[in-house]
Amino acid sequence: MALTYSSYLKLDELLALQQPVSDGPEHDETLFIVVHQVYELWFKEMLHEVDYLKKLLERRDTPRALHTLKRVLTILKVVVAQIDVLETMTPLEFLTFRERLESGSGFQSFQFRELEYLLGMKEAGALSRYPAGSDARRSLERRLAEPTLWDAFLHFLAASGYPVPKSLLERDVRASVAPAPELHPVLIDVYRKDPVTSSLCERLVDLDEGFQEWRYRHVKMVERTIGTKRGTGGSEGAGYLRTTLHKPFFPDLWAIRTEL
Ligand code: HEM
Repeated sequence: MALTYSSYLKLDELLALQQPVSDGPEHDETLFIVVHQVYELWFKEMLHEVDYLKKLLERRDTPRALHTLKRVLTILKVVVAQIDVLETMTPLEFLTFRERLESGSGFQSFQFRELEYLLGMKEAGALSRYPAGSDARRSLERRLAEPTLWDAFLHFLAASGYPVPKSLLERDVRASVAPAPELHPVLIDVYRKDPVTSSLCERLVDLDEGFQEWRYRHVKMVERTIGTKRGTGGSEGAGYLRTTLHKPFFPDLWAIRTEL
């Protein structure tokens, strides 16, 4: 059979995947499912691009690295803007099906945790939320053991001749990226003398800021939709989410601004 638009994109399968669980079903549940599924697809694409970005940094292919970063940043803009769509759902509309979600929550999105791991936040506790041996657990275990984007960037700097401290190049990649003041002179040198590499740094700051923007928009959506009710994932809700704001992936890139 000749390939068609539908067969190539597996549309029959894709369009059969939106299955409301509410009685009726409730009108707004379709929107809720579609928006979350679209997010998971974008998470998949971002993981794919950031993995590629790490390889490009290993190869010291700066032009392609910048190009790939631009793509990731453009996706991130779309992902943040998409919150507007779900915010058209009022608190009462959400209540028509919320209890049917039981303990399901975006909190359990393993691709979101993969992204956090890949970008440098390696909260090992996230692992235990997935059954041992499950695909989600295996993916996260693999990500935990893998160098982060920041590690790839530090190796890129070292390979470009910058004196990155050995302790940072050999750090335990299973730990979260921590502030490293000893790196600041190196980064300041990059900013003062190396416009191409410093633009790479600026795009990483864009990525960091974009992610924080998503967290802020998400918590505002939560506040306007469920107020201070507890989350279906079992957390305190908006209160918990507020603790995740303003935590950068690349703290040193923010810190050096004061010293420049
Ligand atoms: C009406 C819309 C939404 C509400 C009321 C809501 C509510 C919440 C709440 C209360 C939490 C805290 C964990 C818990 O459940 O106890 C949470 C976490 C989370 N939600 Fe949502 N959410 C909504 C939409 C979305 C969408 C569209 C996504 C996209 C994938 C998403 C992704 C996440 C993620 C990744 C977390 C974990 C954040 C973290 O731990 O830092 N949520 N959500």
